Amino acid sequence: MESNMSGKVAVVTGAGRGIGRAIAERLARSGADVAICARTDEELDDARAAIEDFGRNCLAASVDLADPISTKSFCDKVLASFGELHFLVNNAGAYLERGTVAESDTELWWKTVEVNVRGPYMMIRHLLDGIAEGGKIINFSSGKALTAGANSASYHVSKAGLHILTEVLANELWQRDIDVNNIVPGPVATSTFSREDPASRSTPEELLEKYKQELPTGLPKWERVKHPDEVADLVLWLAAMPKGGPTGQTFSLARRPL
Ligand SMILES: NC(=O)c1ccc[n+]([C@@H]2O[C@H](COP(=O)([O-])OP(=O)(O)OC[C@H]3O[C@@H](n4cnc5c(N)ncnc54)[C@H](OP(=O)(O)O)[C@@H]3O)[C@@H](O)[C@H]2O)c1
Repeated sequence: MESNMSGKVAVVTGAGRGIGRAIAERLARSGADVAICARTDEELDDARAAIEDFGRNCLAASVDLADPISTKSFCDKVLASFGELHFLVNNAGAYLERGTVAESDTELWWKTVEVNVRGPYMMIRHLLDGIAEGGKIINFSSGKALTAGANSASYHVSKAGLHILTEVLANELWQRDIDVNNIVPGPVATSTFSREDPASRSTPEELLEKYKQELPTGLPKWERVKHPDEVADLVLWLAAMPKGGPTGQTFSLARRPL
């Protein structure tokens, strides 16, 4: 059943493409006004047009979540434009280096932490006073927040930081009736997952076709790469939870124990 989000305001970070774009469109289709950010103007313009096509208001701003000033300025604009918001989806994430700690680039390592932990923290810190009673904060964690492989330590560490931030916030905000939960999307057909160059990015449909032939190495054969829309459905389900719904929890679409 389609949720009715009329009269609601949502903020979605990283909504230019991938999962964030699917979430922003899904919220707009359900009737919410949506504020979005990312760094790539062309993708933001496309996303804003899609949201406005549903008859909804959209504030779109070019923001680098690694930059606290740009992040605060976006939050100020959101509050000035909408006054109050109901959903904050901290979806944007960076996966900037994949090597061992020994071979890592120190700048990229730390920038990953800045985007994945400080970015969401700043968004929450600056928007919190504007989140309505009954509001929801949804943070994008990862299976890698919960497991230690070798390689990609900056991604593991930063997602683990965000994951526990969610749980701390749930304990801090229950009295204000604001629920805070993590989503673990599992493998999803996006550019973070495919690692394609910005110049030659495939659509989710093209990626799904490719992964139907062969799953990327490291995944068990019963795992499934999902369309971003499937994650958007989970976000809408969480957003529509009534008072007294879950908080401090992790919702995963993976098909294997994490
Ligand atoms: N896809 C998966 O399999 C998977 C699995 C587990 C977790 N996740 C998590 O799910 C979330 C969404 O990822 P996705 O797969 O949809 O990735 P994606 O297709 O690469 O999209 C990421 C979005 O975040 C934005 N972004 C990246 N760095 C940013 C920055 N510094 N400042 C502002 N915006 C930034 C990107 O736009 P710009 O580049 O224009 O800034 C883009 O709009 C991420 O948190 C990711 O870690 C994904």
